[in-house]
Amino acid sequence: MADPAPSRRSALPTVARRGGPLAGAIRVPGDKSISHRALMLGALAIGRTEISGLLEGEDVLATAAALNALGASITRGGDGQWTVDGIGVGALAEPADLLDLGNSGTGARLLLGMLATHPITAFVTGDASLRRRPMGRVVEPLGRFGARFVSREGGRLPLAVSGAADPIPIVYRLPVPSAQVKSAVLLAGLNTPGATTVIERQPTRDHTERMLRHFGAAVSTEPEAGGGLRVTVEGFPEMTAAPIIVPGDPSSAAFPLVAALIVPGSEVTLEGVGINPTRTGLLDSLREMGADIAFLNEREEGGEPVADLRVRAGTLEGADIPAERAPRMIDEYPILAVAAACARGRTVMRGLAELRVKESDRLAAIAAGLDSCGVRVAVDGDTLTVEGSNWPEGGASIETQLDHRIAMAFLVLGLATRVPVSIDDAAPITTSFPGFIAMMNRLGAAIGEE
Ligand code: S3P
Repeated sequence: MADPAPSRRSALPTVARRGGPLAGAIRVPGDKSISHRALMLGALAIGRTEISGLLEGEDVLATAAALNALGASITRGGDGQWTVDGIGVGALAEPADLLDLGNSGTGARLLLGMLATHPITAFVTGDASLRRRPMGRVVEPLGRFGARFVSREGGRLPLAVSGAADPIPIVYRLPVPSAQVKSAVLLAGLNTPGATTVIERQPTRDHTERMLRHFGAAVSTEPEAGGGLRVTVEGFPEMTAAPIIVPGDPSSAAFPLVAALIVPGSEVTLEGVGINPTRTGLLDSLREMGADIAFLNEREEGGEPVADLRVRAGTLEGADIPAERAPRMIDEYPILAVAAACARGRTVMRGLAELRVKESDRLAAIAAGLDSCGVRVAVDGDTLTVEGSNWPEGGASIETQLDHRIAMAFLVLGLATRVPVSIDDAAPITTSFPGFIAMMNRLGAAIGEE
């Protein structure tokens, strides 16, 4: 299994240059959020779950290793199919060693939800990026079930969790719009008697709810008085193994998609991309900016809507992206900012506070990176403003700070700048998009070693 801690590898300095148009059809790797959930819920179901299209990125491999250490049996077949022999809700075994979730906030937070209501003790850690990220946002609600935690300041990893032997169900109002926190609470609710409820003011990605239903658990979603949603899961469900087809990750598709928009003359088709409405904020925003993106062959696979996206290059116009849209495109701001840098006029992106606690402080990383490439940017509180231009200057070397999306976003920018853009390390890209550089180059991009 791959080493889940990118900090232990040597850096891969990489450069992207302007070249000819991009053309062709590609299939991006499986959805990261859905892949984590398929492994976790498969582990909590009885029987053998077969998964096709699982993302074989480092984040997901780290989750698979952790679940194996907890007693599930996850294996990769020769055909790229994965099987999970589940052990059922309530049956996780105490792991003999640290659980290392590498770079993955989703892996760590959702797993803590599962552990919180199992009467075992586990020690959880991650790479330098994950150890900086706030875990208090899950430690706080999970403590209400009766779980006990010992952590570093601010709930940071490494931490120890002793799950509740007699968990108490909770009703929890999310203080931040976070699918990870919602999912951690719902997963804790599975091994808890009675009903566990999460109330979210702004809808966040709903893959956990969809997949729980797919495995036979009872989950209801109702509108909350005064706005938002109330999601309730019933404890002790009988979850049975069910096949999963993982759609292409819209957050990964975003990189070749924006590349095709900003490199003149390009036409690219992205096959089998998930278009769950809780994930399509970027597509809405780019269309408002004038992007030519067609949904072809719309269908449903394994409870998730999917389409082929045909993208044609064209002139983009600046736009005002409202704060309410942020949860539906939270991982896409680095690449939207790159599109904005190549658009005509000003783009304003509001409500970006959560970007400060991602794999890096993405608000700072985007602003510093664009500024060093000669793009006029301003950060005012949680609002980012980008002044677009035809062919930004480029020419900088970007510090990626163990952040896969910062790495990919600035390589895409380098395809449309006057001077090439380099990044100090492309290694973190394998977190979510193994094969990214080769796939981009097959489309006609010029990305290579420094
Ligand atoms: C994810 C939720 C989002 C997103 C992350 C994946 C998930 O995080 O940024 O990449 O799979 O639930 P938050 O819930 O912290 O916003």
